[in-house]
Amino acid sequence: MNFELTEEQKMIRQAAKDFAERELLHDVNERDAKSEFAGDRVKKLAELGFLGMMTDPKYDGGGMDTISYVLAMEEISKIDASVSVLMSVCNSLVNWGLETYGTEEQKEKYLKPLARGEKIGAFLLSEPEAGSDATRQRTTAIDKGNHYLVNGTKNWITNANCASTYLVMAQTHAEKGHKGINTLIVDKDTPGITLGPHEDKMGMRSSDTHSVMFSDVKVPKENRIGEEGFGFKFAMQTLDGGRIGIAAQALGIAAGAFERSLNYAKERKAFGTEIGNHQAIAFKLSDMAVKIENARNLCLKAAWLKDQKQPYGYMSAMAKQYCADIAMEITTEAVQIHGGYGYVKEYHVERLMREAKLTQIYEGTSEIQKIVISRALLK
Ligand code: CAA
Repeated sequence: MNFELTEEQKMIRQAAKDFAERELLHDVNERDAKSEFAGDRVKKLAELGFLGMMTDPKYDGGGMDTISYVLAMEEISKIDASVSVLMSVCNSLVNWGLETYGTEEQKEKYLKPLARGEKIGAFLLSEPEAGSDATRQRTTAIDKGNHYLVNGTKNWITNANCASTYLVMAQTHAEKGHKGINTLIVDKDTPGITLGPHEDKMGMRSSDTHSVMFSDVKVPKENRIGEEGFGFKFAMQTLDGGRIGIAAQALGIAAGAFERSLNYAKERKAFGTEIGNHQAIAFKLSDMAVKIENARNLCLKAAWLKDQKQPYGYMSAMAKQYCADIAMEITTEAVQIHGGYGYVKEYHVERLMREAKLTQIYEGTSEIQKIVISRALLK
């Protein structure tokens, strides 16, 4: 087994780290407090090619592997998960879905500007009454001959306002259950689409999250992805890869909190010595390091399987569950290590703790990952 990264992978990791430290760190807490979207920084991230990094160069993407993507996601998430979630949705949900299942016409029209980073995408699956239970889509896409008429509401949509291209899951034949669901490519400026207010979230407060309402929205038939009724499987297959991105995000949040705790333990003194010299703190750091190493290996294994074109849904669910759960544990310990300083904004760990919580919820809760893993084990 070879654990060595290639020179290109190391360069991409360094570029992501430099970007996050130079462009995001200085005002991340302020944007978090104000729930302010970093539109100017997202533009720079796009110009550097991070929003279409895995898309084939044939479709104007960077042609990088999933391992590189995991490395970049980790570095950006150490500093600002509100930005890395945008990057994850663009790369692994929207671009991958279009590249894998879109027609050549759809790729030309929609994928290319997304891969160049000129446009942003969003993935609209969750609904007020269909979060974990994603088969129960209430949004309808009624077949009107040459177009679908879409009605319904989508909830907690990342990139809802900044995106131009939506991938929308909607029910066309309710009697067929999940086999009646279609995924449609929808231009955000189509008449009949309105957005709810920006969500006032616990964490990742500066990511662009809204509900999206559809009222008699006309979507051309040629904007359906795949065969009639393929929409739910499309969503599930896309989420298999999306979970690698969110696992890497959770890993980055955990690693960011760990690095800050390690530095703090070497500087902060109590009882006449640096707190890292106290076993109570040293053992916490040791436990954190073991968990992060395990988490990183799971992420990279899932990414490697995807790059090798081997089945990866089971491993991506494992990585997502483990990374999210240890991110919550590690950020909680990081606050503990920082004591009173951990509970205020300056040291960043309280924000990282709030961000970690979301990784246990979106793209399938930790419990959903356990369903996916246990079903694979028992089948
Ligand atoms: N790949 C391909 N097909 C799949 C699949 C996969 N990974 N998982 C399920 N399917 C297929 C099944 O084979 C089945 O097809 P058949 O009937 O033809 O056999 C069909 O889909 C239905 O599957 P299940 O019977 O397993 O469905 P279920 O109702 O028991 O639930 C679930 C499956 C795994 C729980 C699924 O509902 C799920 O993943 N829920 C979580 C949804 C989620 O992750 N939402 C995230 C929203 S996006 C987001 O958060 C983005 C963001 O903003 C950051």
